[in-house]
Amino acid sequence: MAARSASRAFLRSTPATSFRASARPARQILPAQIRGSIRRGYASEAGPGKSSSGGIWGIGLAVAAGAGAYFYLNGEKTPKGPFVPTKEDYQKVYDEIATLLANETDYDDGSYGPVLVRLAWHASGTYDKETNTGGSNGATMRFAPESSHGANAGLKHARDFLEPVKAKFPWITYSDLWTLAGSAAIQELGGPKIPWRPGREDKEVVACTPDGRLPDASKDHRHIRDVFGRMGFDDREMVALIGAHALGRAHTDRSGFEGPWDFSPTVFSNEFFRLLVEEKWNQRKWNGPTQFTDKSTSTLMMLPSDIALIKDKGFKQHVERYAKDSDVFFQEFADVYVKLLELGVPFQSKPEERFVFKTSE
Ligand code: HEM
Repeated sequence: MAARSASRAFLRSTPATSFRASARPARQILPAQIRGSIRRGYASEAGPGKSSSGGIWGIGLAVAAGAGAYFYLNGEKTPKGPFVPTKEDYQKVYDEIATLLANETDYDDGSYGPVLVRLAWHASGTYDKETNTGGSNGATMRFAPESSHGANAGLKHARDFLEPVKAKFPWITYSDLWTLAGSAAIQELGGPKIPWRPGREDKEVVACTPDGRLPDASKDHRHIRDVFGRMGFDDREMVALIGAHALGRAHTDRSGFEGPWDFSPTVFSNEFFRLLVEEKWNQRKWNGPTQFTDKSTSTLMMLPSDIALIKDKGFKQHVERYAKDSDVFFQEFADVYVKLLELGVPFQSKPEERFVFKTSE
């Protein structure tokens, strides 16, 4: 995977190969547009990037090779200018992900949704506000060493799941695709709308972040505050984000931990918080890392870092709020997940220009 991704990235950034050979028909590939126009186009549906006047055309051709950008044609229409994706184009990407999620049910608890949510989070959660490095802009988890960081074990399933989507919509960057997939997965699993905007660019292997930026599940409240504080989150936001553990499960061959957090791991809900508050959690007796299991059924689990949310007073007040009121959790989770996916991204568009995608029927 890493080698394949690396060669793709090489193609994208190499002047002589800006007309990329890829899985789409040759007739769809046109000369490139200058990077700035493409970027403006991504940033706003009505941006100046739609211009195809002679001047820009000429400069565009000259600069295109270096920029690694390209035109792209929809269907059979004659080209009138550079392909500038609109909200409708991104909705098509969303729809493709939603269709794949609905069709590929032979995985884990029946959905790739949870692992997509985790991919978007791990791509974004490397952000460091002091150095303004890391974050979703770059999709550097395409490369080793980042793909082989212990915290990212298992995320190859999510990256591979999205490869056919990238092949069908080659104009979208991996960084935009992975975050859009996170937003789509939350919505498709019954969660709140996650407004999303494009504008991320894929970076090269040198932009990989060092190991150790993502949280360690065996640690306590101090570690959670350190790691999420480095990203720029406060207590309330940290708790809301970790509520995504309503989804999915831990795997012994990935993190070493085992089991789901609740009885509906493919439905976004406030169950994680309700169970944290209402259940009694005992340390599991097993030949594995310290984790907790529910007294009632011994089938669910909590990580030490999850239990830290009810041991710490500052965190616990939010756990209780979210356990009591699912609407409040949905709203506050949506806001903070949007913030997470945008950390460190130099958008040219405004927050109010975010797209709200239609969830599938
Ligand atoms: C203290 C912070 C966190 C720690 C220590 C942590 C740790 C973990 C661990 C150990 C797993 C199991 C991985 C596996 O074995 O497959 C996991 C899964 C997961 N995490 Fe977190 N996590 C944290 C925060 C978050 C946040 C902020 C999100 C999203 C906003 C998130 C979303 C998920 C999801 C959806 C899964 C399930 C993945 C699957 O089913 O494959 N986590 N997390």
